[in-house]
Amino acid sequence: MKLSASRAAKLEGTVSVPGDKSVSHRALILGALAAGTTNIRGLLEGDDVLCTKDALAAMGAKFTRTGEGAWRAEGRGVGGLSEPTQVLDLGNSGTGTRLLMGVVAVHAFTSFFSGDASLNSRPMRRVSDPLRKMGAQIVARSGDRLPLAVIGTPEPVPISYTLPVPSAQVKSAILLAGLGAPGETTVIEPEPTRDHTERMLTRFGAKVRVTPEGKGRRITITGQPELVPGNIHVPGDPSSAAFVMVAALLVPGSDVRILGVGTNPLRTGLFDCLREMGADLTIENLREQEGEPLADLRVRGSNLRAIDVPPERAPSMIDEYPILAVAAAAAKGTTRMTGLAELKVKESDRLSAISRGLTACGVKFTEMADGLAIEGCNGPAPGGGLVDAKLDHRIAMAFLVLGLAAKAPVTVDGAETITTSFPGFTDLMGKLGAPIQTLG
Ligand code: S3P
Repeated sequence: MKLSASRAAKLEGTVSVPGDKSVSHRALILGALAAGTTNIRGLLEGDDVLCTKDALAAMGAKFTRTGEGAWRAEGRGVGGLSEPTQVLDLGNSGTGTRLLMGVVAVHAFTSFFSGDASLNSRPMRRVSDPLRKMGAQIVARSGDRLPLAVIGTPEPVPISYTLPVPSAQVKSAILLAGLGAPGETTVIEPEPTRDHTERMLTRFGAKVRVTPEGKGRRITITGQPELVPGNIHVPGDPSSAAFVMVAALLVPGSDVRILGVGTNPLRTGLFDCLREMGADLTIENLREQEGEPLADLRVRGSNLRAIDVPPERAPSMIDEYPILAVAAAAAKGTTRMTGLAELKVKESDRLSAISRGLTACGVKFTEMADGLAIEGCNGPAPGGGLVDAKLDHRIAMAFLVLGLAAKAPVTVDGAETITTSFPGFTDLMGKLGAPIQTLG
């Protein structure tokens, strides 16, 4: 499917973005592992999360949709899942795959994982290495890529593991495997990454200890707890709100409110960048909801200036570089972003995908070993290009946003991938006044 975005007059209105993808996966997984009924509100009903739900259902958990974004999970208790009779199809979802690999590693059965071309090309060794240390066997394609089989261990061994790459997915896989191991499993992360798993495990009654360690954290979970089910209200996804925010910033005269967006400090690196760039962005009505902070955001059209993005900010905005690149393309001056090696192993090689998109839209930049220097246009970028989303939802949305503030329309091919994380994106943007059209 091709979508085309052309220059918007101004964006105005109040919207809510879909539920947080990271929190949604975790709510389903802990709901499936708790003994009893968990009620989830605000669940992201995007393709990625629905794949995780279906995989858990194939292992015996029960999910009932009780309304829009409202689901009832009937869990099987820690260690209580059963062997799936079919290959688990995780679609495009790296988070679903890696977290579930941790879950099944400590169940004494065999499960098979596969996904789309993007997922099947992503590296899984970062997860299989620690899970093998805990006793699971993993048989995979070269480079530990999907399709792969996890032969869960009946006798999991608790480990202490230092993450070689900053990754919340790897951390979470180990903590979820730690649920099934006797004694204490420890993850040391040299740089802090999103902590939704730790927060939600605590809410479900698991014993999780978090202490500072250097610039990062040491997280220890005590295994084999009884998880107590409860209520989870998923906040709006800051990574989805990012597209609406930058669109409002780049289109002059815009004034947009986004309600109920998650503001977990390990997710808001983009907010800091945009503020440093001179964005008129205010955070209102800050509150906490079942263990996660959230707020309403007000964003108004702004003239942005270039910044140097510190590499240590990367974990708190790892999914936001495509849309930051779009903001940088409209800013005054050259924005430098480094420390981005991890972007090469996302849903696509995002560094290359950003470069290709910028080239297609007439924006000048220099590629660095692990980053980009983007020469801002000090206003609308030329646009006019065709960008191939290549199974990457965030690349698709980022370049549509560029088109909303460009001199000539931008077309994105493969835009159906947007439903991975942001179902209703085009309608929501249309409600604000953004001209995004289907070309067929
Ligand atoms: C996620 C962690 C990040 C992020 C992904 C979601 C999570 O991946 O890019 O979209 O929910 O834990 P890494 O852990 O690989 O950095």
